[in-house]
Amino acid sequence: MPGHDPQQPLPPIRVPAFPLQAHDGLLWLRPASSGAPLPPALALELEPAQRRFLWQAQWRGHVLEVMENFLDALHTHYVHAGWLRRDGQRRPTEVELQVAGDRVRVDYRGQPAQSGLVWRLFESARSGESAHFQLPGSTRLQYDYRNGARACVSLHFSPVDARNTRILATFHIHGRWAPRWAVRALLWPLLAHVGRQDAAILAAQQDNMDRFPGRRPARMHSDVLRPLLEDWWLHGRAPDPAHARELTLWL
Ligand SMILES: [Fe+2]
Repeated sequence: MPGHDPQQPLPPIRVPAFPLQAHDGLLWLRPASSGAPLPPALALELEPAQRRFLWQAQWRGHVLEVMENFLDALHTHYVHAGWLRRDGQRRPTEVELQVAGDRVRVDYRGQPAQSGLVWRLFESARSGESAHFQLPGSTRLQYDYRNGARACVSLHFSPVDARNTRILATFHIHGRWAPRWAVRALLWPLLAHVGRQDAAILAAQQDNMDRFPGRRPARMHSDVLRPLLEDWWLHGRAPDPAHARELTLWL
C-alpha cells in the first residue's frame, strides 16, 4: 500500500495464498491450504531431463468424458484408423486393472506391435503398454519396449466448466535416441493430428449429449475405467479396489 502511514493499522484486506510447486515445466497449485502433496506421484516419477515437449489445449466435453477418451485404448482403431491402429486387425489381449490408493493402472499384455502408422515409423517391439490414472486429474499412457526404452504421454486434466476441459500434456522418452528437434519435427505433427481427431469426436459426443439431455451413454464391460472415473468426478469417491479385475479385450 504505497504511502500508507506505518503508524496506522493496515486495513483488513487479505489475499489468499495456496501451495504452489513447479515441476517438469508445469506449475502445480492446490486451491486449499492442506491436502495431498503436490505434484502427484504420476508426474514426479518422470525425469524432467527426459521430457521432449509440453503441450496444452482446451477440448469440449466434461472432464470425465475427456479423460476416458484419452485412457481408452479401444477407440483408437476407428477414431485414429490407420494412424494408431486398424479395426480389421484386433486381437484378444489380456487386460489387468489394478487399484492402489488414489491410483489406477491398466496393463495390456501381449501386443508387441501396433497396427498403425505411428508404430511403424517410430516404434519397435513393445514389452508392455499401460494406462495410469491418479486423483484428481492426472493420467499417463506408458509404452515399454523390449530394448529397454520407454515413452510416456501424460495428460493432466482440469475442468473449465461442465462442457469444457483444459489439458496440460508432457511427452517423455527414456532410453533411446530421440532429440527434441526430431520429436517435434517428425513425431509431433502425427500426434497433433491424433489429438485433433480426439477433440473432434469429443465435440461430436458433447453435441449429441446436448441434443438428448438426460440420456445416459451405454456402458459395456469393456469400459473398464469408466466406473472409476464416474466414482471420482460424479460422486467424489476414491477408486474402489473392488473394481480390480482381469479380462480379455479385442484390442
Ligand atoms: Fe484418441
